[in-house]
Amino acid sequence: MSDKVLVFYGSYRSDRMGIRLADFIVTRMKQRGADVEFIDAKAVNLPMLDRMYKEYKPGTAPEALEALAQKIKAADAFLFVVGEYNWGVQPGLKNLTDHFLEEWFWRPAAIASYSAGRFSGVRSAMAWHGTLSEMGMIIISSTLAAGPIAQTLDEKGEPTGEGGKALERSFPRFADDLAWWTEAARTQRAKRAPPY
Ligand SMILES: Cc1cc2nc3c(=O)[nH]c(=O)nc-3n(C[C@H](O)[C@H](O)[C@H](O)COP(=O)(O)O)c2cc1C
Repeated sequence: MSDKVLVFYGSYRSDRMGIRLADFIVTRMKQRGADVEFIDAKAVNLPMLDRMYKEYKPGTAPEALEALAQKIKAADAFLFVVGEYNWGVQPGLKNLTDHFLEEWFWRPAAIASYSAGRFSGVRSAMAWHGTLSEMGMIIISSTLAAGPIAQTLDEKGEPTGEGGKALERSFPRFADDLAWWTEAARTQRAKRAPPY
């Protein structure tokens, strides 16, 4: 059975660079046989949070919100591609995630970060760790960090130079870690329904 994995990315910038890392991850996850869907927060374009999904009466949520809720509920795992703005998270992706709560529960999540510099967005990754945990996901301990992003991946999301080689080396362990927890959570959910 293929793992259903949603890959999230949330920069709204016209000249966004993180799409390179998102492309790399989506391609590599597909090559491993995962059933991957890319969720681009900019394309989904939810409004600034007013009502959470659960605050709508069943069947009355806006179409984009309803569609995304169904995808989140059906997924086995989540992978977040995160950039860093002023040591913090990107608002587009944070706004998207805040629309949901219970829909995220009982599945693992992995964080891949990037930035223009050599710190590779790790401060944003740390902030997301707590946030995703609060939203009921189990965060795997392996992380992926790409930086400087422009010297690590080209426009097509293909690794370049020493940074690219390092990314290629670290990806399999990161993906193995997520796959192991994905199977563990799916097995447990089948064995015993989540307590709430
Ligand atoms: C508003 C803003 C704040 C930024 N703050 C940081 C930062 O705190 N640390 C860092 O390493 N890079 C920072 N950068 C540089 C980003 O890492 C770089 O622009 C990156 O490509 C942003 O992701 P995106 O291109 O996918 O939007 C910042 C960029 C912007 C636009």
